[in-house]
Amino acid sequence: MADSSIFTGPSGFQPLRLLPEWAVFETAARNSPIHDHSLRIINAAGLHVDVSGQGYSDALAEATDALLRARDFGLMRDRLLQGGMANVTEERAAWHTALREPDPIDEVAAERQRLTEFVRQADSERRWRNVVHIGIGGSDWGVRLAVDAFGYAGAWRTVHFVANIDGHAIQGGLAGLDAHDTLIVLASKSFTTAETLENGQRALEWLKAAGVENPYDQIVAITARPEVAYKWGIPRNHVFTFWDWVGGRFSLWSSVSLTTALSVDTDVVAGMQAGASAMDAHFAEAPVHLNAPVQLAMSGIVNRSVLGYGSLNIAPYDFRLSSLVPYIQQMEMESLGKSTDLAGGAVEIPTGPAVWGMPGTDAQHTFFQWLHQGSDGAPVDFIVCQQADHGWPEHHKRLLANCLAQREALLKGKSYEAALQQCLDEGMDNDKAHWLAHHKVHAGGRPSTLIVLPRLSPYALGALLALYEHKVFVQGLVWGINPFDQWGVEYGKVLAKGILDELSGAPVDARHDASTAHWVEQFRG
Ligand code: F6P
Repeated sequence: MADSSIFTGPSGFQPLRLLPEWAVFETAARNSPIHDHSLRIINAAGLHVDVSGQGYSDALAEATDALLRARDFGLMRDRLLQGGMANVTEERAAWHTALREPDPIDEVAAERQRLTEFVRQADSERRWRNVVHIGIGGSDWGVRLAVDAFGYAGAWRTVHFVANIDGHAIQGGLAGLDAHDTLIVLASKSFTTAETLENGQRALEWLKAAGVENPYDQIVAITARPEVAYKWGIPRNHVFTFWDWVGGRFSLWSSVSLTTALSVDTDVVAGMQAGASAMDAHFAEAPVHLNAPVQLAMSGIVNRSVLGYGSLNIAPYDFRLSSLVPYIQQMEMESLGKSTDLAGGAVEIPTGPAVWGMPGTDAQHTFFQWLHQGSDGAPVDFIVCQQADHGWPEHHKRLLANCLAQREALLKGKSYEAALQQCLDEGMDNDKAHWLAHHKVHAGGRPSTLIVLPRLSPYALGALLALYEHKVFVQGLVWGINPFDQWGVEYGKVLAKGILDELSGAPVDARHDASTAHWVEQFRG
């Protein structure tokens, strides 16, 4: 007999809006100035996280402590880091931190070892000049990010990424490659994702068509469901596993990094893991007011839920980090794009912001005008490396100068009086100066964080990614939502399957809206 009891969420859970600590926090946040110009920099796992450009007051610091206590922050953090059930709606742990432990549990250590041996063997045989990495979302972005960041100037192996179901993606990904020297990597936690399996089939057909004798020997699978990959035809020694307790968007730390290792070496993977693990230790141990992920999370909550900013801009001042924006976009928006709390009710307080961005200085010539003088504005996370890895110090000085200047402009703004004086100093006549000065005013007081990496080492990038992961966890905890599920994405997948059947001749569902029904009819062959 079915259990008739109604699950009402974790016992003792209170919606955020009903917590007295939230009311105090909200008031304190409204009364905490953004540009009081006092320096607040937190050093964490080698990163310098400058939160001087976020609202601050002693009252807000106290309210932050109280709110986190009300949410059992210490207990919940330990539960996460020790592999307890953090993902309550899917009833499993979210234990990605176990993958980067210096001394991991046996099953993790064994897969790490297998991966290293695979790469060593390929290197010693000088095989696979091309790697085609097929995966989407969390099975794609982290690898792209690492390969871009450390292979930006080229590597012995060329990596091609194929994610989209759009056939042009696989067509372009395979174009011009020597099939006999190409390894296909299929990365999919579930091994059911339509994009990955379809693109995988096309790659298999391509290998066969090119006369490759044993095409399955040129395919590797990375998945949490190895038995499905075996059924697909992939030999056991070519299937790398990870576990159900690793969320897809956190799977970069698993064997999914095989492509990274083949491209830029296992040292890079190990370095990223070490940096992330150092950030885990910081998150576990640092007191709240010196805890970088916590402070980043809480200023994000002030900006989103109190000040009403609908989005967060990520501005990495590093050309090599162009994939950082979609990576953080998935991590934040798939995790925090929810408005139902753990008890099943509406949060009724704005939760996860839209995340967007582009590397500086390109971003300055694209949308920074909107950040400076647009009616909405957005908080900005500036990310920059103190030291560059190229040989042109002038370039780097200019990059740093631009980063600091944009941030200062957002923070301090420019008053009407200053703008007027500038116009007059330029020799403008009085009337024109008074008119034009209005257009040159910057409101200022727009929040930002500056994250400084000593240089873009694997260690620093690992620490940076773990910083955002833990920030997302803290925000989910405070808002009272589960950052580890993604039911919204699942619904669209189900609808797409039905429409695909209709496009292939099945009767059209009468429950479609008029527009969808029209286009299904149009697109049916
Ligand atoms: O976009 C939804 C999602 O489930 C992500 O969470 C995941 O990273 C992606 O699809 C790919 O899933 P899989 O690794 O199972 O193919």
